Amino acid sequence: MKIAFFSTKIYDREFFDRYNTAHEIIYFEAPLNEQTVKLAKGCKAICAFVNDKITAAVIVALKDNGVELIALRSAGFNNVDIAAAKANGIVVVRVPAYSPHAVAEHAVALILTLNRKTHKAYNRVREGNFSLDRLTGFDLYGKTVGVIGTGKIGQVFCAIMQGFGCKVLAFDVIANKQLESTGVQYLPLIDIFQAADIISLHCPLNEQTRHFINKQTIAMMKEGVMLINTSRGALVDTPTVIDGLKTRRIGYLGLDVYEQEETLFFNDLSENIIQDEDIMRLLSFPNVLITSHQGFFTQEALAEIAKTTLANVDEFETGKIIKNIVV
Ligand code: NAI
Repeated sequence: MKIAFFSTKIYDREFFDRYNTAHEIIYFEAPLNEQTVKLAKGCKAICAFVNDKITAAVIVALKDNGVELIALRSAGFNNVDIAAAKANGIVVVRVPAYSPHAVAEHAVALILTLNRKTHKAYNRVREGNFSLDRLTGFDLYGKTVGVIGTGKIGQVFCAIMQGFGCKVLAFDVIANKQLESTGVQYLPLIDIFQAADIISLHCPLNEQTRHFINKQTIAMMKEGVMLINTSRGALVDTPTVIDGLKTRRIGYLGLDVYEQEETLFFNDLSENIIQDEDIMRLLSFPNVLITSHQGFFTQEALAEIAKTTLANVDEFETGKIIKNIVV
């Protein structure tokens, strides 16, 4: 099958070329949007990533160009107008799990870096500054961690934090009995916010969770809480988090995702004048650490994304039951 790949980087090509034996892939660096959708002409499928905005207008244009399948090389599908895909008879597939360990471990990397300030120590020591001033951290052992969303990634994250000797509290719309048996305690959100030293978000973005971290929820949190978001940027209302940092209610902020990330992340903008005031304000805080959506970025995850995406296309092409269908 001829597939147009959007928003591709060198590593996408490397991993897809390694595992593709059957399909004709055309790689585009451009994101998928109303201007670029015509690049898909003549392709039966397109492959898109997290920041490709697949709106109703894009879907209608894809259909007009003969596209029948949207193969997402991501787990989240909040960037696709699912109702429009259904109405236009376009099948959407995704990669529901490629490495929950990759994302959970990255959340832990953010916690450890923010806490022990290894990013600052690295620069200091390289410049001959061996002082420990202002590098004080805290023991993770004995601290309380609140986990919002205990699906595939949240579960792995819970286990890692238990390994540090943390008390793990969780909130999910469905409690996981097996996780409870390991000592994770499900509580109402308010109790978690009041008790947690660290809060980590592992739920999907949807209408219920959009701006889940807002003025009200921040007000419930412990003074000096560490907030970690490796899920989706819009779970967090950025201006209120900036206020929370200014009042020191939020003591540490670790983000791998950002609501307006599509104009920034995955690109080298080091010579550009960045116009996004919120991200520039966030970057000005000494207790904020931002990575550009790299939670998924491990060898294992990239291999799994390529293999599963190609298997999804194979299943669609051969008329088999599509395991990873969204709609
Ligand atoms: P999952 O579907 O296995 O788990 C999500 C969990 O959130 C489920 O247990 C679900 O019941 C729960 N949930 C749904 N609504 C909720 C609500 N209102 N409050 C609390 N919990 C709720 O998903 P998985 O694989 O664990 O991924 C979680 C999120 O991580 C994804 O939605 C995606 O946004 C993000 N992600 C980020 C990556 C990165 O590179 N930073 C890579 C992959 C995923």
